This record gives sequence, structure tokens and C-alpha cells, in this order.
Amino acid sequence: KLSDIGFIGLGVMGQNLVLNLADNGYTIAAFDLNNDKVQAVVAQDSLENVTNISNTPRVYGCSSYTELLSQLKAPHLIILSVPAGSAVDEVCQHLINAGIESDDIIIDTGNSLWLDTVAREKKYKSNFVFFSSAVSGGEVGARFGPSLMPSGSVDAWARIKPIWQAIAAKVDASTGKPITRTQPGQVITEGEACTDYIGPAGSGHYVKMVHNGIEYADMQIICEAYHVLKSTLQLTCHDIADIFSTWNDGPLNSYLMEISVEVLRHQSTDTNTPLVELILDKAEQKGTGLWTAVSSLEVGCPAPTIAQAVYARSISSFKALRTQASTLLAAPQQVSLSPNDQQALIEQLHDAMYCAKICAYAQGFQLMKLAAREQEWALNFASIAKIWRAGCIIRAVFLQSISQAYERNDKLANLLVDDFFSKELNARQENWRKAICHATMQGVPVGALSASLAYYDAMRSETLPANLLQAQRDFFGAHTFERIDKAPGEKYHVQWSSKARATVLVNEGL
Ligand code: 6PG
Repeated sequence: KLSDIGFIGLGVMGQNLVLNLADNGYTIAAFDLNNDKVQAVVAQDSLENVTNISNTPRVYGCSSYTELLSQLKAPHLIILSVPAGSAVDEVCQHLINAGIESDDIIIDTGNSLWLDTVAREKKYKSNFVFFSSAVSGGEVGARFGPSLMPSGSVDAWARIKPIWQAIAAKVDASTGKPITRTQPGQVITEGEACTDYIGPAGSGHYVKMVHNGIEYADMQIICEAYHVLKSTLQLTCHDIADIFSTWNDGPLNSYLMEISVEVLRHQSTDTNTPLVELILDKAEQKGTGLWTAVSSLEVGCPAPTIAQAVYARSISSFKALRTQASTLLAAPQQVSLSPNDQQALIEQLHDAMYCAKICAYAQGFQLMKLAAREQEWALNFASIAKIWRAGCIIRAVFLQSISQAYERNDKLANLLVDDFFSKELNARQENWRKAICHATMQGVPVGALSASLAYYDAMRSETLPANLLQAQRDFFGAHTFERIDKAPGEKYHVQWSSKARATVLVNEGL
């Protein structure tokens, strides 16, 4: 009997996606260059497939690309879960050699660079339909319901949609809360699926890239709060876990807060001390946060909190240099706070995190808006916020408020000018400033909290010092400027000083 879906790449994500598909009633022909992984997923399927009514396995293990194609119903639908980059093209080429047909569909689910996806759709047009769907949620998400960001051919989407809706995470539409699925074999049919067609080729991977940029910012904001509580109030990991756990019941509720509480409570079995304190403070990265920051510079959309989160990882990697500098560079005088002031600081820090988080999301959503305008994608931001409410790494009830903001106004220029979010920021901005003052006076770096505050202050400033900047440019380069007392668009240039004139004359004389 032929299988419904082909699956290539059986790493942790791949294996879990296969089992998720199987739970939802699909039969799969699975292949990996490493045969042990093929055997592992077949074995896992037979363990989990306890209600094997028809006495046939849900997952059929293949030993070659040719066998995979021969085991599939036509037109073939093949999902790739291979590392981003050249591996995607290598697999596509193998499938062309094995006889893939022009109406067959290949879905790339890796963290591919969106521009590669755009190029691949064109490159493989005559061979097969190249479709992409970014996946977020890590291994547990892949197994029990990820957030899926599909993009490419509309016809291909019509075929993929029911499968994607079945395997995606589900949300209670009215509360925005995830409907959790935790057991193999469990299927959830109610609720809204965390997937929706994003747009033409590349748009889904662009949206996932921005998701990851926001993920970097969210993580860094939590890390900075931990740093302030640990270094200036000398709280233990368990105390901080208790504070984070309380905050997780309010507007800061998120999966990343939830896992941070668990991390902080985790004791190392050999030392019986918090494991997190034994982890080397050098952050690694695979590149999606960097891509978001680069794209924000290219598109001309300020995303300083996201960029700062990438820089924070970079600066952490200079451990030896930091160790040397720590013996040379002065720290401020440490002050100890009264219990009342300590309690006040904890509340201020909560508000600082919430405001910084709103700014990071405002940056990410505005970036998607400006990129969409450039690429002529019609992105639906309410829908994007909805598909991030469950399944993905930045999942949070907060995303329900974002989707509501875009439902109120689908042309919203920036979340900061939405009524709900401006009120939230206005109510907390004083506390945000106090928390940053405290951290700065105590010498604790809070780059993401501060970058967000500078972004907020710049965005709410009717007047910025760019008048002086324009004058400087005109002084040294005759770059011209506009005047507020003259017609818009009229350009002016002046000779700013006699010294400048002399330079011009000397140059003319040469
Ligand atoms: C997700 C994650 C996932 C991956 C990150 C890690 O949405 O499921 O974002 O894609 O864990 O890419 O990125 P770094 O290694 O750069 O932190």
C-alpha cells in the first residue's frame, strides 16, 4: 500500500514531525542518509502505534530516494527536515535524479534563509513545485503541535492545508490559550490551528526569521532581569524562579518565562547547586537573529532591541577579553537597598520587561510590514500573531493582544500607536526608567531593556536632533537639507564658514 507523504531528514525535528503526522492518520515513507535514523523512527512508530487496527505500520522505512518515490501516492508530496543551506539543494538534486515529476511538491521545513527559498522556487520550477514552511516549536512542538508558517504556490497550499491544520498546535480562539496535547496517539480537532498561508515564496521564512529575532529579544530581556536580581539584590536562583513564576501569571506570561523558571529551579545532580550557575556564560547562535538585524538595517526599519540581543550574545562570547577587562575597568560603588526599595525594584523590573517586550514586538511587526511592502507580499499581521499564540518558542497570551490590535486596524503602522499598547506603556514607563537607572548605577548591563527605552523615547519625540545632523552633512559634503519654514521637498545648501569656503577655493585652484 502506497504512503500519503514522503519524509526526508530524520533528526529530532524530523522524527517528531513524522510521528505527529502518523498520529493524525497519515502514512509516511521515511528516508535519511543515516539508516539507523530510519530504523529508529520505524521502531518508535511500532511502539506508539498501539491501536494498529489494519496491522500495518504507519511509517515505512526507505533505503534510497528511488525507493521513497516508489512508495508514494502520486503526485508525490515530500517533506524535508534537513539543515538549512546546501543540504536542501543536495536533496532536491537527488530527488530530480530519482525521477521526481513537475506536479510533485517538496516542502522545506528547515530554518532556511528566505532569499534562498525565493531562489529555489524559481530554480526548480520546471522540475517540481518547491514550497516552504517554516516550523517553530522545537522537538516537543514538532511532536505535539508546532506553529507552521507556509508560503509558496497557492495550489500547493490547497493540498498541504488539511495536513498542516491537523498537525499544528491548537488554540482556544476566545482566550488565546493553547490546547495542550502531550500524549502519543492524542489528536486535537477543536480550536484554531497555528498555521495559515503567509504569502508567496520566501514570505513564510521571512516571518519565521522575524519570529526568531523576537525570540532573541525575549530571551535577552529575561536574562537581563535575572542579572539585575542576582547581582544587585543578591537573590538566589530559587528566589528568582519564584519571582518569575509569579510574573508568569500576569502579562509577562510566556513559554520562555515558564522554561526560565524550570531552568532556575534545576539542581545539578553532582553538586546539588543550581545547574544554570555552572553553565559557561558564552552564548551561541545559528544566525536567524543576525539575519533579522541585518534585514532591519537593509529595510531601514529600526529594530534596536533585536539587534542588541544579537550583540549581547556576541559580547558574551568574548569571555577571555571580558575577564581581562574586569580587572582593569572600574565598577560603580555598590549600594544596598532597604527591603521596601528591593520590593519596589522588583516591581519596576517587571514593568521594564513588559515595556521592553512590547517594543521588541513592535519592531518585529513593523519590520515585517516594511519588508512586505518592498516584496509586495500581502501579510496578514492579525493572523501571524494568532499562529504564534501556541506551538512556537515565543508563544504567549500577549500575542492575543497583538492580533486584536491588528484586527482593530489592519493598517496599524506600529504597535506603539495602538490604543491598548500605548496605555500599557504609559502606565509603566516611569517604572521602566527607574529599573534601568538602578541597573546602570549598579553597573549591570541592560542593553535590551535600554535599547527598547531609547526606541520608545525616540518614537514618542516629535523633534529629534537630526536637524543638526543634516547641517553637519551639508557642511562637509554639500548633501543639502530641507527647512521647516519653507515648502516640503525644497533642498537648501549653504557655505557654512569662511574656512569651508577657503578649502573650496584651494581645491578649485589645484
Ligand atoms: C524555533 C526555534 C528554532 C531554533 C533556533 C535557535 O522557533 O523552534 O527558533 O528555530 O531553536 O533557531 O536559534 P539559535 O541557535 O540561533 O539560538
